[in-house]
Amino acid sequence: MIKKCLFPAAGYGTRFLPATKSMPKEMMPVVNKPLIEYGVEEAIQAGLDGMCIVTGRGKHSIMDHFDKNYELEHQINGTNKEELLVDIRDVMDKATFTFIRQREMKGLGHAILTGRELVGDEAFAVVLADDLCVNPDQGVLAQMVALYKQFRCSIVAVQEVPKEETHKYGVISGEMIKDNIYRIDDMVEKPEPADAPSNLAIIGRYILTPDIFDLIEQTEPGKGGEIQITDALLKQAQTGCVLAYKFKGHRFDCGSVEGYIEATNYCYENEYKKNEKAVALNKYSTFKDKNNH
Ligand code: G1P
Repeated sequence: MIKKCLFPAAGYGTRFLPATKSMPKEMMPVVNKPLIEYGVEEAIQAGLDGMCIVTGRGKHSIMDHFDKNYELEHQINGTNKEELLVDIRDVMDKATFTFIRQREMKGLGHAILTGRELVGDEAFAVVLADDLCVNPDQGVLAQMVALYKQFRCSIVAVQEVPKEETHKYGVISGEMIKDNIYRIDDMVEKPEPADAPSNLAIIGRYILTPDIFDLIEQTEPGKGGEIQITDALLKQAQTGCVLAYKFKGHRFDCGSVEGYIEATNYCYENEYKKNEKAVALNKYSTFKDKNNH
């Protein structure tokens, strides 16, 4: 069964400069929780417990986030502020975290290959944390894991996008074999609309069988001179089977300012506000801070 989830997290996040000059983009908060924590929670909900994070230079805070902070915990021990650490403590109890550093940025395919030592010889999930996915009942990764149990092959999550946006995504085409499930026969990384095989775009959720690693190794640099997972997956599709799954739920492109703001509003309304204790605590703190200054 799928137990491990790979998080490529070495990228620069240039679209969010200057915020990402010294802070990893994966640590950008959506309301009060970093983006990568949403991804980890989604993976845990899908039954996964091994989080394999591919980091790079300047990404220490990701490691620190999933570790104990004794000084802080000592400070707030026994106070009502502990409420704000409930989620992250739960995440840390339920999963183990391993890290590897990608020394050079050679593309998403290369980042995934860098995680090979952490994943080993088993099928695994990949989450791109800047695609924040929400679905009230069953998260997107949980939907894909259920599908994997049935089909036992690599699966990519897709959604329909306007034709003029195909140049931002890997785009697939294939035969629909069941509702919302396609058997891929072509996939192209970031095509211009005229060259796009369809308007079904890959979003940042994958299930990959371990033979993908050898295929990545054999993959030449593609779009942008980078080693693309899309190209390795096309080889897998041509020699075996790769499925595309039109998932249930909503995806926010938190790599863009607009998507990030939308995600923030959504999470504020649908998640944060429902945590009454945290809201009350925050109100109280504001009051106290005002009185202290
Ligand atoms: C990557 C993949 C692309 C996919 C996208 C989803 O691109 O290469 O195929 O559609 O993630 O977010 P990136 O956005 O990292 O350039």
